[in-house]
Amino acid sequence: MSEAMNSRILGLGHYVPERVVTNAEMTRLMDTSDEWIRQRTGIEERHFISADTGPSDLALPAAEDALRAAGVKASELDLIMLATLSPDIDFPSSAALLQRRLGVSGMPAMDVRNQCSGFLYMLATADAFIRSGGARYVLIAGAEVHSTGLDLTTVGREVAVIFGDGAGAAVLGPEPDTRRGILSTHLHSEGKYAEKLMVEVPNSRSRPRVTPEMLSGPGSRLWPRMEGRYVFKHAVTRFPEVIHEALAANGCTVGDLDLLIPHQANLRISQLVAMGLELPEEKVFNNIQRYGNTTAASIPIALHEAQLAGRVRPGSLVCLAAFGAGFTWASALVRW
Ligand code: UT7
Repeated sequence: MSEAMNSRILGLGHYVPERVVTNAEMTRLMDTSDEWIRQRTGIEERHFISADTGPSDLALPAAEDALRAAGVKASELDLIMLATLSPDIDFPSSAALLQRRLGVSGMPAMDVRNQCSGFLYMLATADAFIRSGGARYVLIAGAEVHSTGLDLTTVGREVAVIFGDGAGAAVLGPEPDTRRGILSTHLHSEGKYAEKLMVEVPNSRSRPRVTPEMLSGPGSRLWPRMEGRYVFKHAVTRFPEVIHEALAANGCTVGDLDLLIPHQANLRISQLVAMGLELPEEKVFNNIQRYGNTTAASIPIALHEAQLAGRVRPGSLVCLAAFGAGFTWASALVRW
């Protein structure tokens, strides 16, 4: 039997496209207001790609930074994963495209399709591979290009104002000290709520997979559809539940936490969750104001920014938590 070990995040990176789209710019496209967007979501601006850019393109600089910070060469990776709900193309995977852009080959590469929980689903998978000895170094990247898939008219405003493009990445490796690194991960899914937040088209149930009827008229099935309030209510229940689950699994309490990094879906969700947990504001990291919801990229972008800001330091106890389409939700407790 090999010795028990943990996995650890060795390096982080993130990248957002240059183009900043303010709330004021959104008001020129649809009937909305800076005030509504700030009050209901906390968002002030987001980044959109300019042209011809896929999530694997955004993931590349994030991954290169994470590799550099980890001191790991791309050729040393044993596994590459990329989480996205907006893959570059239908197939092959965006992970395979990222592998090509990194100039390496041979090691497995796979996409994870778990929306806002995608980063934590990858983290759990990477952790299991490393703990079992199946991999030494694993790259996980969350990357989204939402802007090409949003209805940027008044019909789609409820969804369109909340999403942004971006990428974040982490390189994981073995940690011999089992009191450090990824302490535990907790993954959940409830597919019965699929229709509450979904994109239906293209779909393989229909031949061809996209028809003119699917695309025509307002409310085209090409755009995401979301029951915002319904998703909100579930989110504010599931976040605390899965955070408590992670703490209890490690014999910890909310008071032990140095930082909570929730998936950035809505500032009000983060604030309500923090309030419910009685976590002071300085123990919760939020950056949705500048990026909107970048889905699979939101946690690694936030985690990297928190580290750069000195809010995640050696010894910090950090909880990562996510909730999103599926519904899926997840958490991880990390001793930095
Ligand atoms: O990460 C994926 C998971 N997604 C989420 O967690 C999203 C969760 N849901 C939310 O964040 C919120 O539900 C939204 C931000 C999407 C919407 O906020 P809300 O406070 O739930 O607003 P609402 O949907 O109840 O709409 C209130 C009003 C409506 O008008 P009426 O019916 O009261 O006249 C909407 O038509 O606000 C209107 N509205 C807007 N007005 C200006 C909806 N979107 C907009 C908009 N600008 N962009």
